[in-house]
Amino acid sequence: MPPRPPLPLAGAAVLPLLLLLTAEAVPFVVLHGIGDQCANRGVAEFTRLLADWSAADGHCLEIGSGTWDSWLMPLQQQADVICKKVKEMKELSGGYNIVGLSQGNLIGRAVLQYCDDGPPVKNFISLAGPHAGTASVPLCGSGIFCVIADALIKLEIYSDYVQAHLAPSGYIKIPTDMDDYLKGCRFLPKLNNEIPGERNATYKERFSSLENLVLIMVRLRKA
Ligand SMILES: *[C@@H]1O[C@H](CO)[C@@H](O)[C@H](O)[C@H]1NC(C)=O
Repeated sequence: MPPRPPLPLAGAAVLPLLLLLTAEAVPFVVLHGIGDQCANRGVAEFTRLLADWSAADGHCLEIGSGTWDSWLMPLQQQADVICKKVKEMKELSGGYNIVGLSQGNLIGRAVLQYCDDGPPVKNFISLAGPHAGTASVPLCGSGIFCVIADALIKLEIYSDYVQAHLAPSGYIKIPTDMDDYLKGCRFLPKLNNEIPGERNATYKERFSSLENLVLIMVRLRKA
């Protein structure tokens, strides 16, 4: 098991987030980062505190088995899971806010941009989101699992195999290898409308429809 990442939450980061959540008591969902899961104390407490302080209904949404799938399930598939879940949650039908933690931000943005007929996303609060990609895979750790992850990373990161088996490969952007990134990276180039000839105005429209977008940068070892 990879170690649980520290919650990317600095004291100062909480304030704008709370002000926004408190404004209308719109329900929110939390999408956790890589190597984490909703059942972990850190993210569970984070969700509970936000809900308590803002008096809004908050839910941490899990994808598959949590930790393991956060590493191994391609991000598009992870976003599809969340899209299905938010549609099934009656309490979100009037609109909801997304609070993303690191990798969870990319899943949230895919939900916002791709989830046809999903409930409206009102505000997007991004904590330490690698929205423009990252040049290296987050540090995994030293377990056997990380040996596998590291081995995958050393393969061709933009190969179909790695793209299909290692979630963070979907947002690895090697600045010196933009051609392969645009051709081989399956997730981020589409999400960011970076592929010439394949830009979709609907993504931009949905992204621009947010009432508020809060981006909070955190210095962090992990995604
Ligand atoms: C753009 O994305 C929307 C939403 O997913 C989709 O319904 C539409 O077919 C896409 N348009 C093109 C030209 O691919």
